[in-house]
Amino acid sequence: MAVLHNKFISLHLLFLISIGYGGVFISAELQRFQHPAKDDGSLSFLVLGDWGRRGAFNQSQVAFQMGKIGEKLDIDFVVSTGDNFYDNGLTSEHDTAFEESFTKIYTAKSLQKQWYSVLGNHDYRGDAEAQLSPLLRKIDSRWLCLRSFVVNAELAEIFFVDTTPFVGMYFSETEDHTYDWRGINSQKAYVSNLLKEVELAVRESSAKWKIVVGHHAIRSVGHHGDTQELIDQLLPILQANNVDFYMNGHDHCLEHIGDSNSPIQFLTSGAGSKAWRGDIKGLNKKGLNFFYDGQGFMSVNLTPTDAEIAFYDVFGNVLHRLNTSKQLHSFI
Ligand SMILES: *[C@@H]1O[C@H](CO)[C@@H](O)[C@H](O)[C@H]1NC(C)=O
Ligand SMILES: *[C@@H]1O[C@H](CO)[C@@H](O)[C@H](O)[C@H]1NC(C)=O
Repeated sequence: MAVLHNKFISLHLLFLISIGYGGVFISAELQRFQHPAKDDGSLSFLVLGDWGRRGAFNQSQVAFQMGKIGEKLDIDFVVSTGDNFYDNGLTSEHDTAFEESFTKIYTAKSLQKQWYSVLGNHDYRGDAEAQLSPLLRKIDSRWLCLRSFVVNAELAEIFFVDTTPFVGMYFSETEDHTYDWRGINSQKAYVSNLLKEVELAVRESSAKWKIVVGHHAIRSVGHHGDTQELIDQLLPILQANNVDFYMNGHDHCLEHIGDSNSPIQFLTSGAGSKAWRGDIKGLNKKGLNFFYDGQGFMSVNLTPTDAEIAFYDVFGNVLHRLNTSKQLHSFI
């Protein structure tokens, strides 16, 4: 089913018209990309967040270690959890920060792979649409950033979700910041459509591993803490549809938190540059397995039965590991 599906609609949008209580609404199916697994059926990738600072705040050191670990694991791609360019995203698709913070920083051979990125709240403070522009892919073909999309990597399906529009504070208490809400006419309609699209996609997925990626944490003990909008609106969908991992940035740290109501593991990788904030939130430490306040990144290694996740610091030392095994199920 999933295979047929992908073959026929691959990169196109399929419009479904449904009749709701309020009348007719249109929801688009998430854009899909295919990424083949390795010949032996395994897959590995790195996860990085909150990084673009022209090499400063240890960004270059993290990049160097990513190159080494990337080579060791023979990674297939890199996932960026957003806040790609500081302080305020890109000014336009011609902003030289794109090359100065991305192309000229992640230069290792092993990192010359596809990068799949979402937008963070800081990216929305600039020209958010610049990062989505195909022109950036002409400058550096590794780059792929969209608001929400799905990567089908055979044994794993990765659902990228645009979490910034969920957060009410960015609409109501913007302080001195302006957000680029072009393309998001109504927060409520945008979020409710997106939730429908995500639910449909995770429900229909028959992948062994279901991974959801967003910028904001569902659960975090770091500076920003939990994101209540995501706990209320997104988490129930993930819990009901056997999602294995939720990966995010936003807090500039590395974290691993378990869910008390499901097997979901919450993994924060938001330590791509500025870190050492020094303020752990004491409020909700439920399920906390690991927290590191400094710079680093995460690696993910998947086989059809096992997931191995590791967190690294700026020296490439492994700080924390997590292994998960599953029985092979027959879905027929
Ligand atoms: C860079 O990393 C080292 C080692 O963790 C740390 O001591 C130093 O404070 C970091 N520099 C910055 C600017 O965060
Ligand atoms: C996870 O698996 C790897 C390799 O299979 C092993 O080296 C490591 O010790 C395991 N870690 C844990 C925490 O079980």
